[in-house]
Amino acid sequence: MRPEAALTQRPPWALFAALFAVVSLAVYGLAQWQPFAVDAPAAAGVAGGDAAAGQAVYARACASCHGAGGEGGVGPALAGSGIGAEAVAVVVASGRGIMPAGLVSGDEAADVAAFVAQVSGGAAAPGEAAATRPGGTAGVIGVRLTGLSLALEEPAPAAWGVWLEGPAGRLRAGSIDAGEGAWRDADVDDGQTLLGRYDTVLVGSTADDPALSGAFAQERIDQLLALLIDDPQRAEEGSALDAAAAQIDVLSEHVRFLAAARDEGNLANVRFHGEHMVNITRGEPLQDVDGNGDVSNPGDGVGLIDGPGAHLRRVGLLIGPALTDRDREAAALAAAIARDGEVAGSAESVTGAAQAIAAIERADARLARVWARLRSAAVAAAVVELQP
Ligand code: HEC
Repeated sequence: MRPEAALTQRPPWALFAALFAVVSLAVYGLAQWQPFAVDAPAAAGVAGGDAAAGQAVYARACASCHGAGGEGGVGPALAGSGIGAEAVAVVVASGRGIMPAGLVSGDEAADVAAFVAQVSGGAAAPGEAAATRPGGTAGVIGVRLTGLSLALEEPAPAAWGVWLEGPAGRLRAGSIDAGEGAWRDADVDDGQTLLGRYDTVLVGSTADDPALSGAFAQERIDQLLALLIDDPQRAEEGSALDAAAAQIDVLSEHVRFLAAARDEGNLANVRFHGEHMVNITRGEPLQDVDGNGDVSNPGDGVGLIDGPGAHLRRVGLLIGPALTDRDREAAALAAAIARDGEVAGSAESVTGAAQAIAAIERADARLARVWARLRSAAVAAAVVELQP
């Protein structure tokens, strides 16, 4: 199936996941930006959406990014956000940031809009008063958290300024034109990391009396800084994300060594690198799987899954609860590699290890894909609600 053909049909989640994974970290902040189309056609027909039917649509098409209960994840929290059905329908039709346009359409779009409005406490249909005035979201973006993006539920009624405020003082980050609903700048303050120095986003005519504002909780800032910038638990390796990436690279490298040992028919090396599979993934206490009287581990001893502060668990914890499915998927793959590593590490013949090695190669390739998605999610995790 050609990708172009797939995109013209209702695209399956897996395709978006794959697209999502290839968005490179370095250009993330600039990538895929779709301006907020205020008068997108699909807002028509929102009235009469069936919230009960919309729940299933939500679970299928939205929960992976916005959380099973709308608590947020890759995408902002929708629960309690006050967003109305009409605004939801516009976002679904036209897309927003990395959220693709047209995920669902027709009755399904109306139903899911009604469901999200119910969860958010917003207006059920156009014409009904919203529970709260329209707000939006602000995201601190980029691998080094140097940029800022805004997505307003309704276009700015006048030219508005955007400010950051925090321990470093107040910084004018930019401005949003009257009638615009979105704004973004990948580098707001000469490439400096914004979180930690700033914690509050202010939007409006003046910073002293902003129309909308949102503040990151200190605990969330600490998590995001540990995830992307500098993890106090990983003094030497930088961020939790970098530390995990380094260990996953070491694993892949040794999967190649293991395959090479198999191709050469070298049993001692098959067992040696099989032991590495176990020790890289599980970390301390290291095991002498091949029984050569020596425990060997090319990894950092922390492990991806079992050791204290295991890398994948730590990354999942810092990204936030909505993404635990994905770090669990990565952990399950690493656990499978460890089990097959035990088989290869204690094999009596190269042929006897062949099946386990093939399974390790497959799991390692899948882990690379799941990991790419986790990384993208990590870089998109710094989102805060803007409220009147
Ligand atoms: C690929 C992940 C992804 C999927 C799937 C997804 N969204 Fe989103 N969504 C996002 C992101 C990320 C944003 C914020 C974009 C930005 O502001 O840059 C967003 C924004 C939104 C917003 C605006 C929220 C606000 O406070 O302004 C709404 C509403 C929304 N999504 C609803 C949905 C619905 C309904 C579905 C299912 C039909 C859905 N999303 C599916 C990622 C996703």
